[in-house]
Amino acid sequence: MIIGVPKEIKPNENRVGLIPASVHEFIKNGHEVVVENNAGVGSGIENKEYEKEGAKIIETAKDVFDNADMIVKVKEPQAQEIEMLKNGQILYTYLHLAPDEKQTKGLIKQGVVAIAYETIEVDGKLPLLEPMSEVAGKMSSIMAAYHLAKPYGGKGVLSGGVTGVHSAKFVILGGGTAGLNAAKVASGMGASVFIFDINIERLRYLEDVLPKNCQMIMSNRVNVEQEIQDADAVIGTVLIPGARAPHLITKDMLKLMKKGTVLVDVSIDQGGCFETSYPTTHKDPVFEVDGILHYCVANMPGAYARTSTYALNNATLPFGLKIANLGWREAAKQYECIAKGVNVFDGKITCKPVAEAHGIEYTPIEEFLK
Ligand SMILES: NC(=O)c1ccc[n+]([C@@H]2O[C@H](COP(=O)([O-])OP(=O)(O)OC[C@H]3O[C@@H](n4cnc5c(N)ncnc54)[C@H](O)[C@@H]3O)[C@@H](O)[C@H]2O)c1
Repeated sequence: MIIGVPKEIKPNENRVGLIPASVHEFIKNGHEVVVENNAGVGSGIENKEYEKEGAKIIETAKDVFDNADMIVKVKEPQAQEIEMLKNGQILYTYLHLAPDEKQTKGLIKQGVVAIAYETIEVDGKLPLLEPMSEVAGKMSSIMAAYHLAKPYGGKGVLSGGVTGVHSAKFVILGGGTAGLNAAKVASGMGASVFIFDINIERLRYLEDVLPKNCQMIMSNRVNVEQEIQDADAVIGTVLIPGARAPHLITKDMLKLMKKGTVLVDVSIDQGGCFETSYPTTHKDPVFEVDGILHYCVANMPGAYARTSTYALNNATLPFGLKIANLGWREAAKQYECIAKGVNVFDGKITCKPVAEAHGIEYTPIEEFLK
């Protein structure tokens, strides 16, 4: 199979679909890899690093799309990329089709086999989303610590304190992948960390793996109201799969906090878990409501493109190799997780939530696997 890696063209996207080590694996498995000129520069990867592993560098995206049997990307295809996709070609990338009717109809029209990273599911988990939650979680504590500095709008509290002076208090709402990673960094900086979750088993696990400056608290309105009053930073990472994030901090509750408290809403991509949140960008990441600073960047991992690209490849490569080695149909037959990833095939929607979101007929992928 010929694997094609175009340069990402979505604004401010610096990640890339394959790293040189992944190219090496595809080639070792008997495939060819073509990479668009400078596709990796945003992630600090030069053409020659791909060439060293056996990839061929080609000049334009069109050449990549024309030649490849499988396109490996990061973000959903943009309008001009959709036009270049061919009937029967495999597209392996993040798609997020449910809120994107234009893209969905484009993929239907082109007749591609669209395999979405975000719907590949293993034992109820989404392994291709997890690495980005790890990045966003770790980054959230860094951003909170940075914005706690007075010149950036915060209270002027240093996360780890110094000898004889209290460290900062970080409250983390949601103790899943992002929450755990936020706690690792915040506790590593020496902050006093309070992690809230509604899942007692998860709290028990966190108790076992996190250091002593982390306390686990059952998440309910009374406990949240109590602990945010003297918090310096509050990081929201709650997720109810498939649903809009619940508002754990309402506008009224901002009054309970001291001015200069920093809120970081990692869950902003699901609508945000603070009532006063709205999505921001890396260029202009924060805003203030009632003296409380809000950081609500919707694509946090984009800031650390190189780490994110490598983390993403660690997660996508094993499934990508199965698809390339077996062909998508056999891979989907043998691995249910890959079957779950197929969102569009031959002009049909094969992912139920996507079909429902657009009122288009749903065709179970199994019908094409017989
Ligand atoms: N902004 C970004 O750039 C970015 C990047 C990656 C992920 N995310 C988002 O971060 C969020 C968290 O992702 P994740 O992978 O950590 O999810 P996860 O499923 O691993 O964790 C979510 C946790 O929230 C808990 N929870 C649910 N309701 C709660 C409540 N009322 N109070 C306290 N805890 C509650 C769950 O029990 C679970 O442990 C998601 O919305 C994800 O899309 C955002």
